[in-house]
Amino acid sequence: FEGMTLLELSKRTGESVMVLQTILVNVGETVSSEFDTISIDLAELIAMEIGINVRRQHSTEGSEILPRPPVVTVMGHVDHGKTSLLDALRNTSVAAREAGGITQHVGAFVVGMPDSGTSITFLDTPGHAAFSEMRARGAAVTDIVVLVVAADDGVMPQTLEAIAHARSANVPVVVAINKCDKPGSNPERVKNQLASEGIELEDIGGNVQVVEVSAIKSTGLDKLEEALLLQAVDMDLKARVDGPAQAYVVEARLDKGRGPLATIIVKAGTLVSGHHVVIGSQWGRLRAIRDMIGKPTDRATPAMPVEIEGLKGLPMAGDDVIVVESEERAKMLSEGRKRKYEKDRLLKAEEARLAEAETKE
Ligand code: GTP
Ligand code: MG
Repeated sequence: FEGMTLLELSKRTGESVMVLQTILVNVGETVSSEFDTISIDLAELIAMEIGINVRRQHSTEGSEILPRPPVVTVMGHVDHGKTSLLDALRNTSVAAREAGGITQHVGAFVVGMPDSGTSITFLDTPGHAAFSEMRARGAAVTDIVVLVVAADDGVMPQTLEAIAHARSANVPVVVAINKCDKPGSNPERVKNQLASEGIELEDIGGNVQVVEVSAIKSTGLDKLEEALLLQAVDMDLKARVDGPAQAYVVEARLDKGRGPLATIIVKAGTLVSGHHVVIGSQWGRLRAIRDMIGKPTDRATPAMPVEIEGLKGLPMAGDDVIVVESEERAKMLSEGRKRKYEKDRLLKAEEARLAEAETKE
């Protein structure tokens, strides 16, 4: 864990050492000299108290930066076959076959490519709204969007919406023309429609890959997976593997027996069972980590979706997961964040009230 001296923090925040010391005393920490090192958790807490937004950046010095699998989200118009396509892809998952073909529904799954030793992480389609919501909260987990367009229906309003979302998030698209098994299907028409929407398909010299598939007949899936891996190679996706994990919540739910559960995707570092975490304003200790087929594992690496257990409360999709030193720190940071979130909420409400009063005048 990295940290900084009180003096450094004072310089960075523009607050006097005295003020910072008072805040520390208020949260039950004593720092005797300005040269004492305080942890990154405490630094975040202090920053929040004085109204500064902090971003944790782990130094990548000396740690290995390795290629990582792509994280893919499927989008498209209603009924064009998003769920069917995900189901078909899920069934091709090696892990699923090994486990007897049954995967649990936990917000994400991994398709392994045994030949190349790589894999692709698919997020269960959270809908366009959830995608935007997560982006808005800074949870940029999706690397590639699979745009599903039904070959018999063509480009429709939500197809355009998905294109717009992918564009504003600056996420590349791979087009899957689905339902190609249908008698009335017309992939060429779909391609023309997309081209006139400014999608530069590779057929016409652009760099957007198009694959013709049938989710129902499970055809073209290997081509789609190949296209995704090619796209990923093109993007040169990499992540720090060592050190504390940074992750994002994809989905959270309350289980009667196991308590709050969250499906998370590791962005960087390695998540280790037993560690204390702060998630949004919640906290807990990682009592168990399970992979996508429910198998307990003691660690999770970048792009790996896992389900974690041991949280004290239910986090939200898009919340960030950070690892902290101890239970005390976890509690403290969670309390600090709760206060900060509440302050922000009240501030927003007040602003809205003022804005409304102004329009009435
Ligand atoms: P929403 O979640 O409601 O937006 O729909 P969706 O995009 O998830 O579509 P879904 O997978 O539910 O499929 C809609 C309908 O299309 C279902 O009746 C599927 O059986 C059918 N369908 C999906 N893929 C194919 C396909 O490749 N071929 C054919 N013939 N039918 C398909
Ligand atoms: Mg669906």
